[in-house]
Amino acid sequence: MKFFLDTANLEQIRKAASWDVLDGVTTNPTLVAKEGREHRDLIEEIGRIVSGPISVETTSLDADGMVAEAGQFVDWAPNVVVKVPMTPEGLRAVATLKARGVRTNVTLVFTPMQALLAAKAGAYFVSPFAGRLDDIGHVGMDVVREAVEILRSYDYETQVLAASLRGPLHVLEAARVGVDIVTMPFATMEMMFKHPLTDQGIERFLADWRRLQDALKAKRTTNRS
Ligand code: G3P
Repeated sequence: MKFFLDTANLEQIRKAASWDVLDGVTTNPTLVAKEGREHRDLIEEIGRIVSGPISVETTSLDADGMVAEAGQFVDWAPNVVVKVPMTPEGLRAVATLKARGVRTNVTLVFTPMQALLAAKAGAYFVSPFAGRLDDIGHVGMDVVREAVEILRSYDYETQVLAASLRGPLHVLEAARVGVDIVTMPFATMEMMFKHPLTDQGIERFLADWRRLQDALKAKRTTNRS
């Protein structure tokens, strides 16, 4: 199972990369807009930090526009995966890009049928959005699970990338349904490392260790005198 970071923030990407658990990055226009920098500069910089796939999203609505944007993105970093929306035009772009050897990520997927269509078109990744479905009262993870089941039962090579995850419990559920990849905000990845009993345990072990060292030191001093 691969862990991607859903951000365009360089500081967060650098930090997660230093933990050696980062397999890739996903970006979208909203995440890029938050950074207030030129798209190209940002992706080139991310490409210098991360060797795994970096999803870069198109903003055209027609297939030709998406393909033209993809042509630029792939020059920015060798590991770019072109993100296109789950529309008929998006899937036309997927087919064209696949024929040119460019990997794609079909985004804004909210039903298992959309995931199946993306796989049929030849998407490299398909991104069902769990959190945004939860936000409107659906069980987002059901769509992720059904997408995994359907794609596996037909042996599609398309990898299911669980997106729009809101916290460690989403990551856990995605792991239990057997997704290939999860993409998560930095705060979620950071939270996954944490447990109060881990912190307390370290504190207690160190306190006991210090007590032993002090006792041994005192014993040595007594023996010497
Ligand atoms: O990048 C796609 C997806 O993960 C967006 O998540 O939190 O905006 O629903 P969110």
